[in-house]
Amino acid sequence: MEWGIVRVKETGSTNADLAEMARNGAPEGLVLVAERQTAGRGRQGRTWLSRPGDSLCFSLLLRPTAEPAKAASLSILAGVAVAEALEGLMPGVAVSVKWPNDVLANDRKICGILCEMGGGGGAMHVIVGIGVNVNLDTATLPPEVAATATSMRREAGRTFEPDAVLSALLEAFGARYGQWLDAGLASSMPFLDAHDWLRGRPVAMHLLNEPLSGIGRGISPDGALLLETAGGTVAEVYSGEAHLGLGGQAR
Ligand code: BTN
Repeated sequence: MEWGIVRVKETGSTNADLAEMARNGAPEGLVLVAERQTAGRGRQGRTWLSRPGDSLCFSLLLRPTAEPAKAASLSILAGVAVAEALEGLMPGVAVSVKWPNDVLANDRKICGILCEMGGGGGAMHVIVGIGVNVNLDTATLPPEVAATATSMRREAGRTFEPDAVLSALLEAFGARYGQWLDAGLASSMPFLDAHDWLRGRPVAMHLLNEPLSGIGRGISPDGALLLETAGGTVAEVYSGEAHLGLGGQAR
């Protein structure tokens, strides 16, 4: 995979900018990196806080020739690629993927991913937005975020060059995306199974506004969270936000 990197000092959101560029015909592999975002977007309408030099904020543009249902598993793939790259950069730190695509280090969130799909038919595009807490001093975050967030510096005990982190992430993503184009998540399943933070843990979530809870039983090859509910049935959940349930600490 060839990446073309464009850097800007400041923008609202690299996801929003890249979506606009995609609508104007930008090619697959375009990567937009911002030193600073003033309106970083998170999942579920949240905002994403970042600090210049301390955070890595970028989005990449993909134009997979797959049906939209399959493209949904790209968001899981992004979590796998990020976790793999961060594990390589921080040997000895326990890195995991929390379905659908948060990346945790020692049980705290170190990276957020926001995938947004657009276009349609043969012109579908997917924007994968990635925010990594690189050198962030988590004590400077609002208390409610600081309680569950971490950074590479906090976990590895040293600072990192954001550019080196970007290179590692793009390399991992490129390789994983190539495999995904051939066979979907299949070749990422062993990594995912071994790094699935919710596996075996009590999970609480909402599905269409109804509470749903159970025990995480893995992730299916098409990206669904497998949740064993009280009656022993295993539900396949394709979208939502999962939290630790039954007295576990929420993340
Ligand atoms: C989340 O965990 O809620 C997802 C956060 C995604 C943040 C990244 S930073 C780069 C890209 N541009 C955005 O506006 N958001 C994503």
